Amino acid sequence: MPNEIIVDTQLPAEMLEMIGAECAVQIWPADAADPLFHTAVGLLTYGHPRVDGAVMDRMPNLKVISNFGVGVDHIDLAAARARGIPVGNTPHILDGATADMTFALLLTAARNVVIGERYARSADFTHYDPSILIGSEVHGATLGIVGMGNIGRQVARRARGFDMTVLYHNRTRSPQAEAELGVAYATLPDLLQRADYVTLNLPLTAETGGMIGRAQLRQMRPTAWLINVARGGVVDHAALVEALEQRWIAGAALDVTEPEPLPRDHPLLRMDNAIIAPHLGSATRQTRRAMARLTVDNLNAGLAGLPLPSRIA
Ligand code: DGY
Repeated sequence: MPNEIIVDTQLPAEMLEMIGAECAVQIWPADAADPLFHTAVGLLTYGHPRVDGAVMDRMPNLKVISNFGVGVDHIDLAAARARGIPVGNTPHILDGATADMTFALLLTAARNVVIGERYARSADFTHYDPSILIGSEVHGATLGIVGMGNIGRQVARRARGFDMTVLYHNRTRSPQAEAELGVAYATLPDLLQRADYVTLNLPLTAETGGMIGRAQLRQMRPTAWLINVARGGVVDHAALVEALEQRWIAGAALDVTEPEPLPRDHPLLRMDNAIIAPHLGSATRQTRRAMARLTVDNLNAGLAGLPLPSRIA
């Protein structure tokens, strides 16, 4: 009898192949009383489903929760710990791809790539005009990285190639990052006041939820861009709408939003100083394959009662 595994959504064929025939992979039943919850021994979270203590309690035989991705804000880790259920995630392997995406958004914002692309396709583009869509320089500008973890460090490395001055803010100061990457620590208000581009590269936790609100957005320069590749919940979206409407900042480039996706009538979707991507931070073929491998390795280890290769709780 194969191990029954619940997943929240259809997995790619490549990942199902990795999981193999020893597991029967089933889509999360809509009915909370479905008998599958009793027999399932593994839970694989692929598209950020909410997993709280009540969900875990429905699954008395659950041996492991394996998350596809590094961010686990959708899983109640304390509840998993209390029930002795190990939780796996996929750190490190997505740092480069996520830092690349941070820069993709930064460059897109600075050089009007989205507006320019739409214009170039439209009937309005009739001749070359040197006075339109004048952007801001990236090289030589000041970057403020909020969160100097693995991804933040990769962003700092890329910024060096652009000859940027790099400030960072982190819960704990990192003399090692300062020495290795030539970055300078700043308090959050100082960073916000000085940076031309502010990137958010930190996890969503009880401490970071809503940390970029009205007061912080008011501290930013009117010419500065906010770039969020972390989680939407780090930014107070009502305050962000106000900041963009009132032009407290030049714009926001968001790979993540709260909620995600935004309701189709959300004001951010109508603003030309907002750039919105559908959560593509780690979406490269190589990185997604590596994430799939580690997710399956965590799952298999948990099912076998072995230490997870990458355990977050
Ligand atoms: C992550 O790894 O946290 C990405 O956002 C995908 O979940």
